[in-house]
Amino acid sequence: MFSFFLFFNFMILSWGGQYPLVQNMTVTEGGTANLTCRVEYNDNTSLQWSNPAQQTLFFGDKKALRDNRIELVHASWSELTISISDVTLSDEGMYTCSLFTMPVRTAKAYLTVLGVPEKPEIDGLMKPAMEGDHITLTCITQGSKPAADLRWFRNEKEIKGAKEVNASGKTFTVRSSLQLHVDRNDDGVAYTCKVDHVALTQTPQQATEVLEVHYAPRVEIIHSLAVPQEGQYLKLECMSKGNPPPDPVMWTKDGGELPDLDRMIVEGRELTFTSLNKTDNGTYRCEASNHLGTSSAEYVLYVYDPNAVGQHGTDHALIGGVVAVVVFVTLCLIIVLGRYLARHKGTYLTNEAKGADDAPDADTAIINAEGNHAHAEEKKEYFI
Ligand SMILES: *[C@@H]1O[C@H](CO)[C@@H](O)[C@H](O)[C@H]1NC(C)=O
Ligand SMILES: *[C@@H]1O[C@H](CO)[C@@H](O)[C@H](O)[C@H]1NC(C)=O
Ligand SMILES: *[C@@H]1O[C@H](CO)[C@@H](O)[C@H](O)[C@H]1NC(C)=O
Ligand SMILES: *[C@@H]1O[C@H](CO)[C@@H](O)[C@H](O)[C@H]1NC(C)=O
Ligand SMILES: *[C@@H]1O[C@H](CO)[C@@H](O)[C@H](O)[C@H]1NC(C)=O
Ligand SMILES: *[C@@H]1O[C@H](CO)[C@@H](O)[C@H](O)[C@H]1NC(C)=O
Repeated sequence: MFSFFLFFNFMILSWGGQYPLVQNMTVTEGGTANLTCRVEYNDNTSLQWSNPAQQTLFFGDKKALRDNRIELVHASWSELTISISDVTLSDEGMYTCSLFTMPVRTAKAYLTVLGVPEKPEIDGLMKPAMEGDHITLTCITQGSKPAADLRWFRNEKEIKGAKEVNASGKTFTVRSSLQLHVDRNDDGVAYTCKVDHVALTQTPQQATEVLEVHYAPRVEIIHSLAVPQEGQYLKLECMSKGNPPPDPVMWTKDGGELPDLDRMIVEGRELTFTSLNKTDNGTYRCEASNHLGTSSAEYVLYVYDPNAVGQHGTDHALIGGVVAVVVFVTLCLIIVLGRYLARHKGTYLTNEAKGADDAPDADTAIINAEGNHAHAEEKKEYFI
C-alpha cells in the first residue's frame, strides 16, 4: 500500500505534472508585463525565464541580466514570476520558461506589445479656403501597432475618407484623406479625425479643424408691401451675405444716385419711404461687395394711385351686386315655376306662398307671385 503510494507519487512527479505552464501576454507600450511560469508538482527543480534573444533574465530568484526594468515578483518551488516595466516594442517576442529536469522542459509565452497611436494631425487645410476650391484634408497618425483606424466626421456626422496604411519599422503610419469641393455651406463646419485603436482604452484620440470659407456676397431685396400705393410707408431691405461680410450696401435708383428727399431714408441696409409718391417710380438697386466680388439685386417700384386702386374696389363691389341679383331672380323664378306646376296638378293643400295667402284663386296667387318677381326686377335695377 505504502509502496503503491510512493510509486503513484513518483508517476505524478516524473510524468504527470512536472511541466512548466505559461500564457501569452499583451501589453501596451509603456506598461508592465508580468511573466508567470507555474509548475503543478515540483521536486525543487529550478525554473528560469529567458528573453527572445535567449538571454537568461532570472534563474530561480537570482537575477541574471542587468536591466533595471526587470524585477522578481514571486519565486517559489511552484512559480517564478518576473515583471518587465516600461515595456517597449523591442521587448516583443517569444519568452521561454525552462524547468531544469533531465531533460530540460520548456514552455514558450509570446509577449505582444501594442503601439499607441500618436495624436492625429490634419494637413492640407487652407485658412481661409475660397468657395469653389478643391482641397484635400489628410489626417495622419503614427506609431500604432496594430494599424489604427481613422474615421472622419463632418460636424459629428461620419463621412468616408480614403485610408492608406504603411508600415514603418514595427509600427504603422495610417493616413486618411478627404477630398472636398468647398462651398459657402462649409463655412464654420468642423471636420474631425478620430483614431480608433485597441490600445486607446479611454476616449479615442482626435483632431478637429474648423473650415473658414470666403465667398462673394449674394444679395436679395425684401420689401414690405405687395401693392405700394401713394402715401404709404415702404421699407426695402437689402439682405447680403458674404464672407468676409460685405461692405455697407449701396443703393441707387435708375442707375444714378438716390434723389435727396426727406421721405427717403437710407439706414444701413434699409431704404425706407415714409410716404410714397408717384414720382418714386423706378428701379432701385442695392449692391454689396467684398474682395471676392460684387453682387446686386433690383426692385422695380410702381406706385399705384390709391384712387385707381379704389376704382378697382368699386368694380368688384358692382360685379358682386349683379351676381347676387341674378342669383336671387333665378331662385324666385324656380320657386314660382314650381308653385305654378304644383297648382295645375291640383295640389291645393299647401298655401305657403306669401302672394297666395289672400288670393281668391290660383291664378291671382300666381299674379301676386309675379308681382313679387317684378318687385325683384326693380330691386335689381336699383342695385345697378
Ligand atoms: C504584476 O504583478 C504585480 C505584483 O504582483 C501586480 O501588482 C501587478 O498588478 C501585476 N501587473 C499586471 C499587469 O498583471
Ligand atoms: C525543497 O527544498 C526545501 C529546502 O531547500 C525543502 O524544505 C522542501 O521540502 C523541498 N521540497 C520538495 C518538494 O522536495
Ligand atoms: C501564443 O502566441 C504564439 C505566437 O503568436 C502562438 O503561436 C500560440 O498559439 C499562442 N499560444 C496560446 C496558448 O495562445
Ligand atoms: C506608402 O507607401 C507607398 C508605396 O510604397 C507610397 O507611395 C506612399 O507615399 C506611402 N505612404 C505613406 C503614408 O508613407
Ligand atoms: C408727390 O410729389 C409731388 C411733387 O413733389 C407733389 O406735388 C405731390 O403732392 C406729391 N403727392 C403726394 C401724394 O404726396
Ligand atoms: C410711374 O410708372 C408708370 C409705369 O411705369 C407710368 O405709367 C407713370 O407715368 C409713372 N409715373 C411717374 C410720375 O413717373
